[in-house]
Amino acid sequence: MKDKILTGVTTTGVPHLGNYVGAMLPAIKASKYENTESFFLIADYHSLVKNKEAKKIKDSTLEIAASWLAVGLDDNSLFYRQSDIPEIMELNWILSCSTAKGLMNRAHAYKSLINQNQDLDDRDVDKGINMGLYCYPILMAADILIFNANKIPVGKDQLQHIEMTRDIANRFNYHYGDIFELPQAILGDQNSIIPGIDGRKMSKSYSNTIPLFIDEKRLKKLVMRIKTDSKEPGEPKDYSSSNLFSIFKSFARQEEVSDYKEKFKNGISWGDAKNILFDHLNDHLKGYRENYNKIIRDKGCIENILKEGSIKAREISTKNLEKIRSAIGIKKIS
Ligand code: TRP
Repeated sequence: MKDKILTGVTTTGVPHLGNYVGAMLPAIKASKYENTESFFLIADYHSLVKNKEAKKIKDSTLEIAASWLAVGLDDNSLFYRQSDIPEIMELNWILSCSTAKGLMNRAHAYKSLINQNQDLDDRDVDKGINMGLYCYPILMAADILIFNANKIPVGKDQLQHIEMTRDIANRFNYHYGDIFELPQAILGDQNSIIPGIDGRKMSKSYSNTIPLFIDEKRLKKLVMRIKTDSKEPGEPKDYSSSNLFSIFKSFARQEEVSDYKEKFKNGISWGDAKNILFDHLNDHLKGYRENYNKIIRDKGCIENILKEGSIKAREISTKNLEKIRSAIGIKKIS
């Protein structure tokens, strides 16, 4: 049996170096493994939960698609938009009908919003919570189960959603027979988390990111702002606690990393260490930047790639949905 790897991203704009190292590179690598089928979905209906600006949703879809294509997602993966696979939405309803409300009550994202509301005394506990947010985990389960994907690369924050997908699949199987495989989360390795320019984990929510396709000038500016300690040139420096080093090592070969380490021990100035990091990043990213700028201009081409992906994906999803409908009794009467 082939492994089926499924990766999903919500449409939240152009990725940064942290997304690239932590999610994009590993997913693209995995899509090229032998004996695997790779599914790659742009979760545009998930982003509707938070984003009510039509133009933003549309632009982000383009940006995300162009980003992944620019760094090398290719025909090894079925690349499609969630909204182009109506079977996902149909399964979403079917699963909703066998999923316990209590399971959704336990979702971290939902619970933390309820808690926030409770802390503000006279507020309705449900304020600001739409049904999309509440049922988010069911839609995610539908994304996965419609293809019977068994391996799901995710960050820590998504582990609970995969656990819930297993619960949802299990409960369905218990009622209707063995229809779904229980998927497994594949957690990225800790080494692939990189710091942002202020030293905290690189994340949009901290506004400390280095965007992946930023132009050379702005890339240099951001690298120059990366936080260091106040050691003087000539003083030996601790590479293991250096933000510059943490970023460098995710982009460099073993010999280059050893060489950089050596320079820290020999007291390289922070300015020089930053220049080396900048040159290295720039060399690494130049090609991607060019690809991205070319691809993003050709909207028709992106649309075609996603359409083609959805046609292939639907060959699988329509067959699977037929089996599911048959199992629940929604089928031909005679
Ligand atoms: N919820 C995921 C996130 O915010 C995105 C996502 C949607 C996803 N559907 C998925 C991830 C299916 C894995 C599998 O990152």
